[in-house]
Amino acid sequence: MLTLHSPAKLNLFLRVLGKRPDGYHELASLFQTISLTDTLHFELSDSDKCTCTDPTLPTDGSNLIVKAVELFRRKSGLRFHVNVHLEKNIPLQAGLGGGSGNAATTLWALNQLCGKPATTEQLTQWAAEIGSDISFFFSLGTAYCTGRGEQVQAVPQLSQTKLWVVKPQDGLATPAVYQRLNLALLQPRDPLKSLESFITGAPCYFNDLEGAAFSVMPSLELLKQQLKALGFHTALMTGSGSSFFCIGNAKPPVHPGITCYPATFLNRTPDGWYGEKAVTLPRPFCL
Ligand code: C5P
Repeated sequence: MLTLHSPAKLNLFLRVLGKRPDGYHELASLFQTISLTDTLHFELSDSDKCTCTDPTLPTDGSNLIVKAVELFRRKSGLRFHVNVHLEKNIPLQAGLGGGSGNAATTLWALNQLCGKPATTEQLTQWAAEIGSDISFFFSLGTAYCTGRGEQVQAVPQLSQTKLWVVKPQDGLATPAVYQRLNLALLQPRDPLKSLESFITGAPCYFNDLEGAAFSVMPSLELLKQQLKALGFHTALMTGSGSSFFCIGNAKPPVHPGITCYPATFLNRTPDGWYGEKAVTLPRPFCL
């Protein structure tokens, strides 16, 4: 039996550089894992089973955990079966990469349970076959990601930052947000300069997907304004939304239908998975 935390991610900046012939978008983004986590339990068994505390989440072949199990079996050539139980805390359709983190955590766990047949580099490459954001989690938790998001470059750990994740009731589907994106409206920022700004301690947070997400769900723009008005110096949507992360000395919003999760940046050690030693699960609150 192996129990691991599966962290959420934030996009500290997210630049969309263009649309590719394969229909995906070329990205340049600084990804960071945070202490908002799911918990996954793994046990080798004589048949495969996937269960989840959230009944709205399908546990069939569409679930990234099930896809990761099938991927690991195919790539490693090993014959095994596994029971996986997911304690879901990370909100869905939130831009927090919860499903991607679950897939990465599953690949890491299976590799441990099967005697480490794969290197971390192999797991990183394999992961890209089932999703764009999964490879990132095999970094140490801070990485500059390009291509579809699957090209991962390590970045030195950033200074510890406290934040709030703010999630409105409605979620956003990633393809719908990308479909609304008007590339001509984006600011032509140089992502390498943005990366430099974080490394030198003068972070410049932005997300090129905010405008597209606001046109799919106009209430998000209002929420951003409300978060700024509360006194946060940063209130930025993560990924394709619908959640925001807020940094600064302010109290989180108390609105019906909005859930707030306290979190900090969370990195892993080269040999361990995220928060393996001790992680205090953040307690969300909502009205
Ligand atoms: O790879 P993943 O399954 O996470 O992507 C979900 C969807 O998000 C894709 O089908 C595509 O519509 C969109 N996407 C994109 N460009 C990216 C990543 C995702 O257009 N770089």
